Amino acid sequence: MPVTSAAPAAAAPVRPFGPDVDALRRQDPELAEILVAELERQSDGLQLIAAENFTSTAVLTALGSPLANKYAEGYPGSRHHGGCEFVDVAERIAVDRATALFGAEHANVQPHSGSSAVLAAYAALLRPGDTVLAMGLPHGGHLTHGSPANFSGRWFEFVGYGVDAESGLIDYEQILALARTHRPKAVVCGSISYPRHIDYSAFRDIADDVGAYLIADAAHPMGLVAGGAAPSPVPYADVVCATTHKVLRGPRGGMLLCGGDLAERIDRAVFPFTQGGAQMHTIAAKAVAFGEAATPAFTTYAHKVVANARALAAELTARGLVITTGGTDTHLLTADTGRYGLDARTARGRLAAAGLVLDTCALPHGDVRGLRLGTAAVTTQGMGTEEMTRIAELFAAALRSDAEPNRLRGEVRELVRRFPPYPSR
Ligand SMILES: Cc1ncc(COP(=O)(O)O)c(C=O)c1O
Repeated sequence: MPVTSAAPAAAAPVRPFGPDVDALRRQDPELAEILVAELERQSDGLQLIAAENFTSTAVLTALGSPLANKYAEGYPGSRHHGGCEFVDVAERIAVDRATALFGAEHANVQPHSGSSAVLAAYAALLRPGDTVLAMGLPHGGHLTHGSPANFSGRWFEFVGYGVDAESGLIDYEQILALARTHRPKAVVCGSISYPRHIDYSAFRDIADDVGAYLIADAAHPMGLVAGGAAPSPVPYADVVCATTHKVLRGPRGGMLLCGGDLAERIDRAVFPFTQGGAQMHTIAAKAVAFGEAATPAFTTYAHKVVANARALAAELTARGLVITTGGTDTHLLTADTGRYGLDARTARGRLAAAGLVLDTCALPHGDVRGLRLGTAAVTTQGMGTEEMTRIAELFAAALRSDAEPNRLRGEVRELVRRFPPYPSR
């Protein structure tokens, strides 16, 4: 389909989810309009942010439930508040589903976010001033991996490892050499933009070589792990940190997995050390998402996410984008827009104007920034490899800027309105 052939399409009508939007509209029209506008924004463009997804209406229902009212400091059976008989059951279900899904001995489902999970892992295993070896931020490390603007960089001595400038791949020899030089108390593996599978066994060997803990920050691949589309860090890491959103398709939140030996330390590091009352509506929504992730349909989904990312990487390569590591094993890919004569911010702006929503990120070589995109959300919408070809066409047209912007926006709309994230019943 030619990229510039279609007339601009009107925005697809979107059905607000949930029974109470009308009630909210009557009480607080200003906020109701924002909820509806955001749903329309999400439905009206291509959501290619690698960290985002569309939760099910079941997850949204749990999030918007009266469990949001409940205070529940502590853990099931041992709360500092009365009236926890039902939320205790919700948390036990979430924990049981998480341990079964990931084959872990222990799960803590209370972290409010991925960053809170990492904070608790450090609190459980480290003391302020300890040395930690993690992926450097310019190479794809997260803020919690030693950014000076984050608690991690302020309270610990971080040593950063990188990826090979040419191949973009993790250099395990370099990490071993750094570990032997700096003798860290913990080694962190995990990234916001690494598109390949991580060799957790190699990281375990490195950590063992220097007597360090291994912390896997698997925020990104955890949904793929749940669906059997990526290797699991659980058998190798002392503690696994994750988000429950992203590919896992649950509510925004965090999670920790560990062996029985560390269970008590991890639980105490979450509550009372770094958090107060658990958010029971979110924990119930996590339980719903873990239930969904245990189904064969989710396994199929996770594999499709990867197939789509690979197809998109190949189609973008064919159109002159340079894809880091030459492709992907996961849901995400990073691309250099240099051949289009565009820096990453300008490229992101042009893509956003056409309705393709994504992020910029660091690239392995030099100071150049690139684009980071993922296929979790578009795959949830039901798109397949055919649509990845179309997305690549639209992507290249937006970067070339040779298409009339309104027309291109209309063509993106025409594609996405065939795949509404929350179809009308
Ligand atoms: C590797 C990694 N760790 C931690 C986080 C933090 O998650 P949150 O934004 O929920 O705090 C992210 C989020 O993208 C991440 O990619």
